[in-house]
Formats: sequence, C-alpha cells, structure tokens
Amino acid sequence: MGRFTSVFLSCLSFLLFVVLLPHVSSRPAAMPARRSIVGETCNQIARGDPNVDFTFCSQSLRSAAGSDGADLHGLAIISLKLAVANATSAATRAKALLKGNGLSRYYKSCLDACREVYADAASDLRDATGMIRSGRLVDARVYISAAVDAPVVCEDGFQEGGLASPLAEEDGDLMQLAVIALALAVRLG
Ligand SMILES: *[C@@H]1O[C@H](CO)[C@@H](O)[C@H](O)[C@H]1NC(C)=O
Repeated sequence: MGRFTSVFLSCLSFLLFVVLLPHVSSRPAAMPARRSIVGETCNQIARGDPNVDFTFCSQSLRSAAGSDGADLHGLAIISLKLAVANATSAATRAKALLKGNGLSRYYKSCLDACREVYADAASDLRDATGMIRSGRLVDARVYISAAVDAPVVCEDGFQEGGLASPLAEEDGDLMQLAVIALALAVRLG
C-alpha cells in the first residue's frame, strides 16, 4: 500500500467515523423519546383539561394498532378512530335503551337526543379524520369541537330532568377521546 493510499484510507475512515458517530450515539437517546410520545402527550393533555384522565389517555392510545412509534399526526388519526368507534357504539347503546319498557316520554326524548348527537358526532369525527389527512387542520378542529359537545348535550337532558344518566360511562369515554383528538389536532399546528 502506497503512502498516498494509506493517508487516503485513514482520511476516509475518519470521515466515516464523523459521519456515522451522531447516528450511533443518538440512537439510544432517540428510542425512549419516541416510545414516550404517548406518555408525554397524554401528560400535557390531562394537565390541560380536567375531563381527561392520564391513565385513560395513555392506555387508549397505546392499545391501538399502529400507535407504537407513531408521530403526533399518527396519534391524532388514531384518537379520531377510537372516538368514532366510541360514538358509534354509544349510539347503538342509546338505541338499545330506547327499546326498554315503561320509559317516560321525557326519558325517551333524552335517549333519542343522545342517539342523534352520537350519530352526528361519529360522522363529524369521521370527516375530521379525512381533513387531518389532507392537512385541513382548522376545519378538522371545528368538526372535532362539535363532537366534544355531544356527550355534554346528552348528559344535560338527564340532568335537567333530575334523572340519573344511563349513558354516563359512554359520555365520559367519548368526551375524553374527543378532547384528546382535539388537543392533538391543535398540536399539529
Ligand atoms: C371507548 O374507548 C375506550 C378507549 O379506547 C375503550 O376502552 C372503550 O371500550 C370504548 N367503549 C366502547 C363502548 O366502545
């Protein structure tokens, strides 16, 4: 090996070292950061809104397919999918309750209002998913905000009549998922 070749090779290996070093050394630091994006995001959302429970937020997002390694955009889509599923099953539950015997007119009107706002919320949240995908963030936020109101409207009916809500759990879950989706949509810019 000539002197020139050997100098060239040591320069080359030095260059490779310099180029590769940041990648090698940043890997251990980047992986935990990526894994805790759910934890960090849920922590911020739960602290910013008393309606959101940290454990509910992190368990919901972590249990969803594709949340591992997802970025904020991915998490926003995931939270919307979860919220659509919740709104849809809440509508089904309200419909089932309407088939009960001996319900008062008022109670029935409450259940029917819930069924309707849940169905609208499912549709709004589905639309918002498409808007997030196409970068229409402002529109998406308007649609998600409308869905945040659905569980409030449902609970209000029972409360105004002095009745215990049979949909309190559904309303609590849907409220949390919609607030989480909204907070993520706001974080996207
Ligand atoms: C609503 O979403 C939460 C979180 O993903 C889930 O635990 C719960 O089972 C869902 N409820 C219904 C009725 O789908």
